[in-house]
Amino acid sequence: MPIYEPKNNKEFLTPFGPTIGYYKMDQEVVETLNSMMNEKLEDFSDKLVGKVRQELKFTDDIKNYAGQSLVKFLGEYHSYSLDRNSFGQEKPSKNDSYNLNILNAWFVRQFENEYNPLHIHNNCTLSCVGYLSLPDKINQEWEDDYKDHYPANGHINFSYGVNNHYGVANMLIKPRVGDFYVFPNYLFHCVYPFQTKGERRSFSMNMTFHKVNSDQ
Ligand SMILES: [Fe+2]
Repeated sequence: MPIYEPKNNKEFLTPFGPTIGYYKMDQEVVETLNSMMNEKLEDFSDKLVGKVRQELKFTDDIKNYAGQSLVKFLGEYHSYSLDRNSFGQEKPSKNDSYNLNILNAWFVRQFENEYNPLHIHNNCTLSCVGYLSLPDKINQEWEDDYKDHYPANGHINFSYGVNNHYGVANMLIKPRVGDFYVFPNYLFHCVYPFQTKGERRSFSMNMTFHKVNSDQ
């Protein structure tokens, strides 16, 4: 059990709860993943909770491409979490080697009035979402929705624990093309419906990220 030791005269600690990692994908990665999506891919939607038109399974080629494009950032997320969760006492060694295993992955094609109920991802340790496309006119809907005290249309909502003083249990994120978020598999999330005609396209991957050897 790592023991916290202050290193400065003043520190603020956020040791509890899951870490979410954010990364801006290159435009080229977004374009390539979009070009790899086609309606001939296996529709996985019967096995997933989303109330959306299609959830198309990645082929091995798409998994490999996405893995190569994101593995560096996933490694940084893993290192950050290791450091944070051990109060700085565990640092990855330069000789450590990791294996990213993408167990399942799919494109999520969500259209107007569709949604994704509250869920977690089973049989993996890490999951993620990356945004590939949005309806052309969704900004108009958001402009209106943001006049409300609780805008949410087409947003993803992460939830963990209970809202209280000095703690937060809910996090809403507005999708932007190219944005990528990684989070632990047990973190509850849902996606709210929107009304604008068109496609909100994202992808998700269920993954493990394991140390395979070390110099220790
Ligand atoms: Fe999900």
